[in-house]
Amino acid sequence: MIIAQISDTHITLDTPDAEQRIRDFALTIADINALDPGPDVIVHTGDIAHNGRQDEYAQAVATLANARAPVYVLAGNRDNRTNLREAFSARGYLAPDSDFVAYAIDDYPVRLIALDTLSSASNKGDFCSERVGHLIDLTGLETTKPIAVFTHHPPFEVTVGPDRLHFESQDIMSGLRRALQHSGRVVAVFSGHVHRAAAGDVAGIPATVMPSIATTLRKGEYPADMRRRPVYHIHRFDPVWGFATETRLVAAQWDVVPRENGASAGEPRAPDYSCSRF
Ligand SMILES: [Fe+2]
Repeated sequence: MIIAQISDTHITLDTPDAEQRIRDFALTIADINALDPGPDVIVHTGDIAHNGRQDEYAQAVATLANARAPVYVLAGNRDNRTNLREAFSARGYLAPDSDFVAYAIDDYPVRLIALDTLSSASNKGDFCSERVGHLIDLTGLETTKPIAVFTHHPPFEVTVGPDRLHFESQDIMSGLRRALQHSGRVVAVFSGHVHRAAAGDVAGIPATVMPSIATTLRKGEYPADMRRRPVYHIHRFDPVWGFATETRLVAAQWDVVPRENGASAGEPRAPDYSCSRF
């Protein structure tokens, strides 16, 4: 099984770098579409829209409509649960009547569980007792497959950057970590939020964080010719060895139709191999 993870696209329509963010997102989807073999699924681990606005989600939905693989989305701290649900309701995996955007997907050799770590009080993560109970219930509903869990906020300390803890308290993060260990079948945790690549663990369960797809918001040092090329993660699952995570830099030849040209934004153009491009 192959999972393409994308995160932190932070789509806006009216900031100076809005076109770049739309372009970064479209380039990434074009690149994922060109993978051979392609992924079984694409998972977006949140901060889809920068302000949680309906028009920002409409832009994100238009970009994701180009994806060949099925797409599943999580909510990040910049997202608005109501608008996100409305924008992505068509495929039916988001429960319309739940307080949280959390669900399990059982269509693959690995069970996929998406969690909602949003806080109503801050940009940091929260995971209240109701969510702990729901996670334990979700992991117990199917008992034969390994489980990959997706969260926006990473459930481990990321030691680079100004603040290593991305939950509101150690106790809250510990509650989530204990729930992740409960079934004994979670084999990987994949997160976003920090905008840089990082790796950690949850009591021996490997956990990774991917950089933001939005290159203008990405943290870390990149050489000049990589600064406007998004990177994303491919997680390949092997029944014996578990997940191997690969970081992929999008191909330089992808071009996208800019929004101001009146074409649908983010539509990939076929790569142009003519000499004039070199
Ligand atoms: Fe973000």
